[in-house]
Amino acid sequence: MSRFDQIYRKVALTIAGNSAVERLLSEQGKGLAGRFVAGDTPAQAIEAIHKLARSGILHNMDLLGEFVSDPASANANADAVLQMLNEMHAAGIRPYNSIKLSALGQGQQVNGHDLGESNARRIVARAKEFGGFINLDMEDHTRVDITLATFRRLAEEFGHAHVGTVLQSYLYRSEEDLRSLEDLRPNLRIVKGAYLEPATVAMQNKPDIDAAYRRLVYEHLKAGHYCNVATHDHHIIYDVMHFALAYGIPKSQFEFQMLYGVREDFQKELAAQGYTVRSYIPYGTEWYGYYSRRIAERPQNVMFVLRGLL
Ligand code: FDA
Repeated sequence: MSRFDQIYRKVALTIAGNSAVERLLSEQGKGLAGRFVAGDTPAQAIEAIHKLARSGILHNMDLLGEFVSDPASANANADAVLQMLNEMHAAGIRPYNSIKLSALGQGQQVNGHDLGESNARRIVARAKEFGGFINLDMEDHTRVDITLATFRRLAEEFGHAHVGTVLQSYLYRSEEDLRSLEDLRPNLRIVKGAYLEPATVAMQNKPDIDAAYRRLVYEHLKAGHYCNVATHDHHIIYDVMHFALAYGIPKSQFEFQMLYGVREDFQKELAAQGYTVRSYIPYGTEWYGYYSRRIAERPQNVMFVLRGLL
């Protein structure tokens, strides 16, 4: 990330947080989000799964939505994910889904239990029943402790074959977190991190974030655990391939994950070379937060918005 990119990202995420901008884009920008979102309904999302499967690319489904403050909305979100699992199973598709605990009631106490965790437990139990897998997405740094604690309990209960989580390389704490999870033999997704975080908790320079990214992936692979290398950064992707060859790590111990609608040709190319590639496919109507983070990642994406709005 050049200095320009760093400033751009900060400005874009700040503007996206402005309520007037959110209103304007929510009203005008829905069609534009289509580049990154598979559709409003489970049926449209399942259509996207089939389409990608024809190119040898696997799926990771994400019902859009985050940060609900009342239990009824949290439970409704959990029910919608369960419904999706049922529909995937009925369509003969092994569920592989991501969930955001903030959308499921994380931090709200119901009957003495964290609602986010209770809802996640229902979802992981159903996924396990169908032989599937649930990943707990990582959100802003204030949620890392509680998300990792939930992950630990669910992994102990259901096993690492059915639940995983995410570490963000921009956080100073992530290498320590990796070591603290070691006993679970966790299935982890490594990302750079998508939120606007203060310098007190997160690195701000791309070279530092990239170096930390490589360290996390290499350490996790060397420990013998399954790694989801989630990045569009071809420098890192090629380095991981070389690292795996040098250390005798089989292709079956890692996969590349990218976002739906981003570098699609590259995704197909990697799949054609025999690597496991999984596309993170968002669906649903709550696309604003997700979409604004994608715009913040890349100045060129703003042009889509401006062209569409004008
Ligand atoms: P970076 O932003 O450094 O980009 C490297 C290169 O990739 C660019 O130079 C460009 O060539 C290409 N590129 C990147 N973004 C592009 C785009 N939008 N369009 C076209 N080309 C692009 N974050 C988080 O905080 N919590 C989470 O749970 C997740 N989950 C997650 C799952 C998956 C599957 C992915 C791929 C990403 C996430 N993220 C995430 C987001 C992640 O933290 C990060 O913001 C984005 O992946 C962008 O960073 P890159 O690693 O792609 O590299």
